[in-house]
Parts: sequence; C-alpha cells; structure tokens
Amino acid sequence: MTNLSVNINKVALIRNARGGDFPNLVQIAKDCEKFGAQGITVHPRPDERHVRYNDIPLLKKEVTTEFNIEGNPNKKFLNLVTQNCPHQCTLVPDAPDALTSNSGWDTIKNKHFLKDVIAQLHEKNIRVSIFIDTEAKNIEGAKEVGADRIEFYTGPYAEQFFINKQEIIKPYIECAKLAHNIGLGINAGHDLNLDNLHFFISNVPNVLEVSIGHALISDSLYYGLHNTIQLYLRQLK
Ligand code: PXP
Repeated sequence: MTNLSVNINKVALIRNARGGDFPNLVQIAKDCEKFGAQGITVHPRPDERHVRYNDIPLLKKEVTTEFNIEGNPNKKFLNLVTQNCPHQCTLVPDAPDALTSNSGWDTIKNKHFLKDVIAQLHEKNIRVSIFIDTEAKNIEGAKEVGADRIEFYTGPYAEQFFINKQEIIKPYIECAKLAHNIGLGINAGHDLNLDNLHFFISNVPNVLEVSIGHALISDSLYYGLHNTIQLYLRQLK
C-alpha cells in the first residue's frame, strides 16, 4: 500500500491569517495521524507564509509517524533540517517567491550542489527524496547524486487528467520502472486529489508515498478532516 503523508501547510496559512495559534498546527498533525495518515509533511518557505521555521521543533517533538520536511535547500533550510532531523527531507528547486512548487530538479546541472547537500543530510541519517519531472536523465542523475527516493512532480498529470489520462500517465509509468530498476524509492505529489489519485496509484508501480495538501485540506471543509483522510486512504488501497 502507498502511504499518505498530509501536507499541513494550508492549515498554517489559515492560522497565520489571524496571527494567533488557531487552528493549532501540532494538534492538526496529531489528529491527521490519529485519523490514519502515515506521515506529516511541511514545506517551510523563506517568507514563512505557510508553516514557520519555529513550528518545526514543536512538530518534530509530537509527530509519531513519518515526518517529511520539503523545500529548497538554502543554508537556512539545511540548518533547520539538520537540527531537527526529520525521517525524510524532500529537496525542491522552488524559487523564494514561487506560489507553489512547479518543476523538478535538473540533476545534471545541479550535480555537485545536490551531492553536497545530500551528503550533509545523510550524515544525520535523514532519507533524501528529490522532486523530479518525468525525464529519464534527471532520474538517473538523482541516483548519481545519492538520493534515496524521487518524488514525481504530478502537477502535469493532474492538469491533463480530464483531457487524456491514458496518455499523461505513460511517462510516469516508464519513469517509475526506471527509478525502481536503479534502486530509487518513489514518492509522488502535487495537485493529487480524490478524482485523480486512484488512477495514478493503480497505474504507476511501486509508489511508496504520496504527499497531499491543497486538495485534502480543501476537501476537509466539506467532509471534515477525519472523513477526508478516510476517503484518501480508500483511494490508496
Ligand atoms: N510535493 C511538493 C514538493 C510540494 O511542494 C507540494 C506543495 O507544497 C506538494 C507535494 C503537495 O501539493 P498539493 O498541495 O498540491 O497537494
């Protein structure tokens, strides 16, 4: 079965809107776990509009499932991650002012940088996943720089899902086979939702984990957090 990691950034966005501590991020993380999520993901961005840097130690203390911190590995981010030692760190090449992550790494061009960053994270026994588009050369490059897993950027899949899902799924299947064959674990994330998740998971082999934020938190406005997590877990079976 594929694990569900709930990205709680959008909860932090709501909290930040009023400047106080409601909804409480740690409580939400613990409730996601209680309701069946197998992991919690956060993506601290430089402007801290979502999760803040000082949320991380509190979450690290309370999260009992897999804790995944994702982001662009600048110096501040790397310090945060190596000081808090999550189970997994997902490296994302997003610009500081990006609305959301919108492409994977060029693992060839950034070979030396990624190698160095991954070595620092491995020193702390942190598993490293890197955000990747469906391009064979970048997947092979991910292996070369020492990544443990790749996370497929599924934005393009979600965009094409209602137009031609049979076609858009093909590169993900091919790249998943390649990644598996060369010993990389496979995660996936971005714009996955209750419409497109099951088709992705039932066609793309060996997906270990999906991280889902925007749609899941939005769905919980209608269905409640407990029911929503059950609905997503059902899609993953
Ligand atoms: N994976 C990465 C690397 C991301 O940056 C994000 C968004 O923060 C997600 C997954 C989750 O995407 P969504 O919020 O669309 O579910």
